[in-house]
Amino acid sequence: MKVSIRRMEFEDVPKVVAIEERWSYLSKWGEPGYRAVMSDSRVYTCLVAEDGEHRAQPPVIAGFAVVAKLIDDCELCNLVVLPECLSKGVGYELLQACFEVAQYLKIARMLLEVRQSNQRAIDFYARNGFRIINERRNYYLSPRESAWVMERAVELG
Ligand SMILES: CC(C)(COP(=O)(O)OP(=O)(O)OC[C@H]1O[C@@H](n2cnc3c(N)ncnc32)[C@H](O)[C@@H]1OP(=O)(O)O)[C@@H](O)C(=O)NCCC(=O)NCCS
Repeated sequence: MKVSIRRMEFEDVPKVVAIEERWSYLSKWGEPGYRAVMSDSRVYTCLVAEDGEHRAQPPVIAGFAVVAKLIDDCELCNLVVLPECLSKGVGYELLQACFEVAQYLKIARMLLEVRQSNQRAIDFYARNGFRIINERRNYYLSPRESAWVMERAVELG
């Protein structure tokens, strides 16, 4: 799918939350959560992927990502694709945009946490260069579950 990546705007938030709601096991940030991170732009970069193929007006938001700048690392806090748009490269394009954010910030490492049962996401991250470096016991609630911590180097050129 041809997608264009742009910054998340406040008017995107209801659609972003609707995508989040489609995945039962995801931690729900809700509208207040996304508005809060968007308001803290020194730390967070929030991106959406628009479907550029189907020319719907307004364009369909096919997925979104949130990256945080920690002290020496970037953390991929959220990466979610609309179920109808899976396996079409939307996740890949969003991930590349997140790496570009890290490159712009001159941060050489991307970290993330993922539910240990989320094999689709673990495989996706592994194919895209991440490796498991640690475990956080009982990191998630509803349902309670441990997380893998994964990392990937970011080329700074
Ligand atoms: C993990 C996730 C973000 C991956 O997103 P995605 O858009 O499906 O990822 P991609 O399309 O880039 O890659 C997935 C597959 O599509 C394939 N693909 C990529 N581009 C493609 C294209 N243009 N045409 C067809 N297939 C393509 C990839 O090769 C890969 O194939 P494989 O799974 O058979 O190996 C998505 O599954 C998701 O949103 N999951 C729910 C939320 C979640 O759990 N997020 C992670 C929280 S830590």
